[in-house]
Amino acid sequence: MTAQYFLVQGASRGIGLAMVAYLLARDDVAHVYACSRTPNDSQPLQDLLAAHPSRLTLVPLDITREADIAHAAAMIKDRHGCLHGLINCAGLLHDASLQPEKRLEQIDVAALDASFRVNAFGPMLLARHFFALLKHDQPARFVTLSARVGSISDNAMGGWYSYRASKAAQNQFTRTFAIEARRRAKQLIILALHPGTTDTALSQPFQKNVPDKKLFTTAFVAETLLNIVFNATAEDSGRFIAWDGQDIPW
Ligand SMILES: NC(=O)c1ccc[n+]([C@@H]2O[C@H](COP(=O)([O-])OP(=O)(O)OC[C@H]3O[C@@H](n4cnc5c(N)ncnc54)[C@H](OP(=O)(O)O)[C@@H]3O)[C@@H](O)[C@H]2O)c1
Repeated sequence: MTAQYFLVQGASRGIGLAMVAYLLARDDVAHVYACSRTPNDSQPLQDLLAAHPSRLTLVPLDITREADIAHAAAMIKDRHGCLHGLINCAGLLHDASLQPEKRLEQIDVAALDASFRVNAFGPMLLARHFFALLKHDQPARFVTLSARVGSISDNAMGGWYSYRASKAAQNQFTRTFAIEARRRAKQLIILALHPGTTDTALSQPFQKNVPDKKLFTTAFVAETLLNIVFNATAEDSGRFIAWDGQDIPW
């Protein structure tokens, strides 16, 4: 079994944290790099580090800062020379100064800017700096968590301008990257995944109308999505796939 190296971005909590735990439970994963802005402040990550001191590295990385991304890529290149999987789970829907818009009049350029920097530019910069580590003669995956609301053809409800548009931009980027990688990195599989509504801080204010069985745990989502990732083949590259394995129209 080939030892595999993974990086999870947005690992401090939510789905990314559960992805790190799931990867560490696999025998074929030799090392996981867990990134977020302040990973050392995440108690669950500290607990995982205590349990797996030689297989986990916490990396401070703000996805809106290209220098952080370049620095992490250089560090991993020095240590292993390659990666077998990069899973981007960072995402921004709301924070103290940003709420999803219900009406046109609520559009605010600072909110648009913050959303695009995290949800759209971030994954592009990760690809830009980690492509060299993912391009080799073994299977590798570049996976980014998108959202069904980023689908243009699926949009029947409206609202959430910044989040929807930034996820749509992320989707276009993912598709474009997959087309280029088909020529330049034949072993690299590129996927956009929709986790379904998952019980995290991101969805917390919007859970009221979600039926019980449709609000997933992070552990269920991590296992379900990583099964999709580990079973994916080159033919799947460039797909936008939901947690249930169904394609979502772009
Ligand atoms: N939860 C859902 O129902 C749902 C549904 C559809 C799609 N998604 C997508 O799934 C992904 C994961 O969502 P989640 O629910 O797990 O979110 P979450 O619990 O809010 O976690 C978000 C993660 O992103 C990281 N992050 C945010 N801004 C960052 C930045 N500037 N630099 C680096 N890391 C940053 C956070 O780390 P720090 O803040 O510690 O840096 C945190 O680890 C997102 O892309 C989201 O859009 C979620």
